Formats: sequence, C-alpha cells, structure tokens
Amino acid sequence: MSTFDLSPAEIQRKVEALGPWFHNLDLNGISTAPSHFLGNYPTTKWERFADAIPQDMSGRAVLDIGCNAGFYSIEMKRRGAARVLGIDTDEEYLEQARFAAQVKALDIEFARMSVYEVGSLGEKFDMVLFLGVLYHLRHPLLALDLIYEHVADDILLFQSMLRGSMEAMPLKENYDFWTTELFNRDGFPKMHFIEHKFAGDWTNWWIPNRACVEALLRSAGFLIIGHPEQEVYVCRRAERPYAVETVDPAGRRAND
Ligand SMILES: C[S@@+](CC[C@H](N)C(=O)[O-])C[C@H]1O[C@@H](n2cnc3c(N)ncnc32)[C@H](O)[C@@H]1O
Repeated sequence: MSTFDLSPAEIQRKVEALGPWFHNLDLNGISTAPSHFLGNYPTTKWERFADAIPQDMSGRAVLDIGCNAGFYSIEMKRRGAARVLGIDTDEEYLEQARFAAQVKALDIEFARMSVYEVGSLGEKFDMVLFLGVLYHLRHPLLALDLIYEHVADDILLFQSMLRGSMEAMPLKENYDFWTTELFNRDGFPKMHFIEHKFAGDWTNWWIPNRACVEALLRSAGFLIIGHPEQEVYVCRRAERPYAVETVDPAGRRAND
C-alpha cells in the first residue's frame, strides 16, 4: 500500500507515532499539531507574508534551511518550484517532513544537514528560506555569512524572533571611542544572549532587536527589499560591505 492510500485513521496513527510536531500541517484532514501554543502555526504566520513571494515559482530552486516538518518547503513546491531541498539537523523533524510530502504527493528532497554545512552542497539556489533558525544558533552571523558565500544566488527569505525595541535608528559610518550614551538608545542594534532557556527551550541562544537583525542582514551582504511582516524580511544578495573572511566548519576558507 502506498502512503497515498492511507486511511484517515492510519494517517492519524502515523502522525501520533511521529510526534510531537512543531508544524501544524493538514494531512488529508488530520492536523499534526492542533494544540500548538502559537495557534494554527505556521499557517497564520505565512498568511501575513505569503503575498511577498511570487505565486509562480516554476523553474526555481529553493533551499529551506531548518525546514522542520516541511511547511514552507511544501508551500514552495505547491507554487511550482522546480526543486526544493529542505535541510534540518533534527532527524525526527525530517521524518515528519518526508511523511507530509508523501501524503501530499509532492517531490521534495529532505536531508540532515546543519546550516554550518551548506558549503558542502556545492550549489546555489534562487531562493533560500532561513526562517525561525537564527536565534537557535550559537553562531548566528557565521550562518548568515555561510549562506551568502555558498548557497544564496538571489533571494533570501528571512525570519527571526525579535525582542526589545522595534525602532531602528539611522546608523553612522563610525562612532568615536568615547561614545557611551549610544548603547542605551533603543534603536541601536542589540542582541540578547540567553544563557539558559527561553520558552523552556535551551536552544534559544540569541534574540536580536529589530535594528540588530536588519544590521546583521546588511552586514552579511543582504539588501533588504521587503519587510512584509514584523519578523520577516525579503532580501536580495548584494555586495558585502566589508571583506568578510568566512571559514566553514571543515576549516576551508571561503576563497580556498
Ligand atoms: C523554530 S523551528 C523553525 C522551523 C521553520 N523554518 C519555520 O519557520 O516554521 C527551528 C528549526 O531549525 C532547526 N535547526 C536548529 N539548528 C539548526 C542548524 N544548525 N541547522 C539547520 N537547522 C537547524 C530545528 O531543528 C528546527 O526544525
């Protein structure tokens, strides 16, 4: 029997066996996370920025970094993307993603891989999704640098949890050494380090404010071309402002 022939009761059993789920997907009428603490997540989030992405993605290659159970990979494939590759470090989430794609009869590749390893793909993508992952990383700027260097060919769709001020003040090219008051300003870039847990999750390490997330994106070489939702940015790969040296985890420098 193929996965597509599964009865609702069989899908329900498999969904329970693969749980708990972070993505609430609708698998032939079965919800994977009906009691999600954020509501019908990520559908409610996606609805707020879905119009910022082309309806027709045909011919495009998409990399979904931190794909989880594949909600966004599925949406990109439904828009006709030629190739969708979802990567995640968590094999249990990848199992969910593979099952969801099978139930929906969508041809999506999923692989266990960290954002720090994207250099090993040896391939660039028309669109890179980097949604809800930055604050789970101990080395967030390294991840953005590696995405820029190795996999982003054009568009980066980015989302981060944000805390602190939503003001982003204009930044000067330079500040002299004796500047102190600046660091108390709400609109100056700040990233909050979480030593222990946030929302019961020890993998939440850094939570930026709005000014910081925008500065990180620019610093990594991404031009912000859209801000369709409070936490979501549409970026285009642009010139890097400085000669950033990126060393990947295998110890190779970007230009080696
Ligand atoms: C909050 S979820 C976001 C899922 C999805 N991108 C979304 O926006 O709904 C974070 C995901 O990032 C994955 N993740 C954490 N660290 C990662 C890493 N170093 N490389 C790739 N994925 C990672 C987690 O396993 C999890 O699936």
